[in-house]
Amino acid sequence: MTRLPSSDAGHDFSVDADITAAATIAPSFYVDEAAHMLARERVFARSWQWIGDLAEVAQPGSLSPREMLPGCLDEPLLLARDAAGALRCLSNVCTHRGNLLVKAPCRAEQIRCSYHSRRFDLRGQMTFMPEFDRAKNFPSPADHLPQVPLGRFGDLAFAAIDPVGPLESFLGDVQERIGWMPLADFRPDPSRNRDYDVAAHWALYVENYLEGFHVPFVHADLNQVIDYGSYSSELFRYANLQLALARDGEAAFELPPQSPDHGQRVAAYYFWVFPNLMLNFYPWGLSLNLVQPQGIGHTRVAFRAYVWDASRLDGGAGSALHQVEMEDEAVVQAVQRGVRSRWYRGGRYSPTREQGVHHFHRLLGEFMAPTSRAAGA
Ligand code: FES
Ligand SMILES: [Fe+2]
Repeated sequence: MTRLPSSDAGHDFSVDADITAAATIAPSFYVDEAAHMLARERVFARSWQWIGDLAEVAQPGSLSPREMLPGCLDEPLLLARDAAGALRCLSNVCTHRGNLLVKAPCRAEQIRCSYHSRRFDLRGQMTFMPEFDRAKNFPSPADHLPQVPLGRFGDLAFAAIDPVGPLESFLGDVQERIGWMPLADFRPDPSRNRDYDVAAHWALYVENYLEGFHVPFVHADLNQVIDYGSYSSELFRYANLQLALARDGEAAFELPPQSPDHGQRVAAYYFWVFPNLMLNFYPWGLSLNLVQPQGIGHTRVAFRAYVWDASRLDGGAGSALHQVEMEDEAVVQAVQRGVRSRWYRGGRYSPTREQGVHHFHRLLGEFMAPTSRAAGA
């Protein structure tokens, strides 16, 4: 069990609100083990985490185990749809001596622990326990399975430990912008899933994603497809959007009149949701990227594909994701070595091209602050 540092001395990660005057977040954020542990509790445990989709729990009486943010939060969860059709997210840990309850997706009328046979219904209520007749004050509320906050966005499921606000405060702006897409019809395509291991701190991976500034310098081929001059960043409370317009002749969305972007040739919507989720919408569908810290200098990024229009898979900004990923990883891994330098003291932001990075660092400063309960969801 990792202990949190007893004091916050040396952990000032605040960043000036004025981008024209601000310096980037203190480099110790990337290199200090104690800061990394603190971020797990203050950043990840207080934000909404993607826990997969709902395809496996479509039917009443279905159970599906999940793990919240593997390698970082590692919280065993259980999606359970009861006979009446109500969906819940429960702790997947037996309230007796802590055995994991459900190990594979299944249909069931009850949950039975394989260790000493404690039973629960699909609402998480303990219903039976052998050899406990003489136990006092049993069962008590603590013997039922804790229910975990659960939210959904289309068919995507999100859970949170101690969220600073409802899921809508993180995803409401995404919904408003692309709510016209039939998200519930997007189909998972596991053949296009990939996991990437990156030798870098998770925040370096995220901040690289948050600026298109490097596109002409790092991604020569992508730069032929999107119009860098039109690349824009829009900041929301716990999310942001980078909008890329298509160059003439390149693939673009056919936007319906109800889209706020109707009339523009949008090549891609790159949404980032604090702290570690990217939702990249292309004319073919969604590439979801979950950034999973595996340690202070090691990050695993899960790419999950949800296809809407398979006929559009091979063109435009969303067609060469692997090549773009390799180019990004090379530069992020170089930065990882750079931020450890004794001479690197942090930098400054481009006021015109790095608003997204500044916003991310500001949120990190807010969540990492000692007294903090991030305000105003
Ligand atoms: S740990 Fe589950 S019944 Fe003992
Ligand atoms: Fe990039």
